[in-house]
Amino acid sequence: MKQLSILSFFTISICLLLITNACKEDCPDETNCNGITIDYTQLTYSPNPYEIEAPATLPNPNNPRYIPENNPLTVEGVALGRKLFYDPILSADSTLACAGCHNQSAAFTDNGKPVSVGVNKMAGTRNSMPLFNLVYVDDLFWDGAARGLEDQALEPVPNHKEMDLPWEDAICRLMNHEEYRKDFYTAFGIETITKEDVVNAIAQFERTIISGESVYDLSQTPGTGVSLDDKARNGELLFFSEGGDCFHCHNNSQYLFSTNTFANNGLDFTATLDDFEDNGLGKVTGNPEDNGKFRIPTLRNIALTGPYMHDGRFETLEEVLEHYSTGIQASPNIDPIIASKFPNGLNLTEQEKEMILAFLYSLTDTSFVNNPAYSNPFE
Ligand code: HEC
Ligand code: HEC
Repeated sequence: MKQLSILSFFTISICLLLITNACKEDCPDETNCNGITIDYTQLTYSPNPYEIEAPATLPNPNNPRYIPENNPLTVEGVALGRKLFYDPILSADSTLACAGCHNQSAAFTDNGKPVSVGVNKMAGTRNSMPLFNLVYVDDLFWDGAARGLEDQALEPVPNHKEMDLPWEDAICRLMNHEEYRKDFYTAFGIETITKEDVVNAIAQFERTIISGESVYDLSQTPGTGVSLDDKARNGELLFFSEGGDCFHCHNNSQYLFSTNTFANNGLDFTATLDDFEDNGLGKVTGNPEDNGKFRIPTLRNIALTGPYMHDGRFETLEEVLEHYSTGIQASPNIDPIIASKFPNGLNLTEQEKEMILAFLYSLTDTSFVNNPAYSNPFE
């Protein structure tokens, strides 16, 4: 036993030594944040305006009401944001980029994980969220804790359970990186990078990510020749009827198949407002009436983004439908629509479940997940 622990002590020490040495060569010098000189005379700062492309089924995202006045999109800013989004340089051990938990092929969610795992192999408590059409959205996260994409992007970098890199160190790395120094100059005309510039660039890229060409969208657009099959069409009718009752919360008024407000959809039984495992919106507002309420998520691309719910508790869409059908749990602030109309669940027949499922599948947008404009620029 003793020998074994001495052996493991040596093995661990050698590993640590290897890691530290590897770092000496590869890791940027975080003690000197201005270790390189850039010849700015070779560069020009004259950024070009960027027009977000969106199909006619969605409102024009370039409308000034959707773009913050102090962060207009430019071709250079978007390109820089895309690089930063895909670059693990913003994580402590340089292994995890934003894209590590937001993968394009999964509609920018986390590759089927119930909850995300950060650089320290520490699991978070929430399911990664899809990223698209966020140009139209103000309150972000499952609990609305972030307002706007710039605000949101400040969070994952220093978060111990995500990328775990203090902002000062992140800035140091970028300041010692010749290509990024030039990119920040051409995008923002700056020689000293700040975290605000980093999140501005990332937010610009995120605003360009649009999904509006699902089979369902195309079936709604004259001239495409695309129509829903009978099953999906019946599912659509059920979804938008009082019988199915999904549309009260998941309608398309915000172009997301979500009213983008917060609700308790009956996931857990609790006797009082203080018994929720995760208080959700209540954690942000401090109002117990908001405990157990979560953002009503988009249903666009829903077939690609499992597992489901804020904690990833349901692996499949069949399980989600079973929840609404027979699994509704009472709590003091269950949404009144659910409590009054289907307190014990909708009791859907197998056929009805299949129809709703077919409709949900029609919300998948394959052109979006394959759009090269959103893909990894390093590949
Ligand atoms: C360790 C995995 C992980 C990493 C790395 C990560 N995210 Fe996330 N992201 C999540 C999770 C989990 C949530 C939901 C968090 C919550 O609601 O508490 C989320 C939520 C978001 C949202 C909110 C979407 C919405 O609709 O409200 C945005 C935007 C986002 N992330 C962008 C980013 C950006 C930009 C980066 C890199 C700077 C990043 N993420 C890095 C896991 C991650
Ligand atoms: C009272 C509002 C409300 C109604 C009605 C409602 N939902 Fe939801 N739905 C929500 C909320 C809130 C969540 C997220 C809950 C959470 O994670 O805590 C959700 C989550 C979902 C999810 C998982 C999404 C994801 O990304 O994890 C699916 C799928 C879904 N609902 C489909 C439906 C269908 C189908 C119906 C109709 C049978 C329906 N919903 C009715 C509010 C509602």
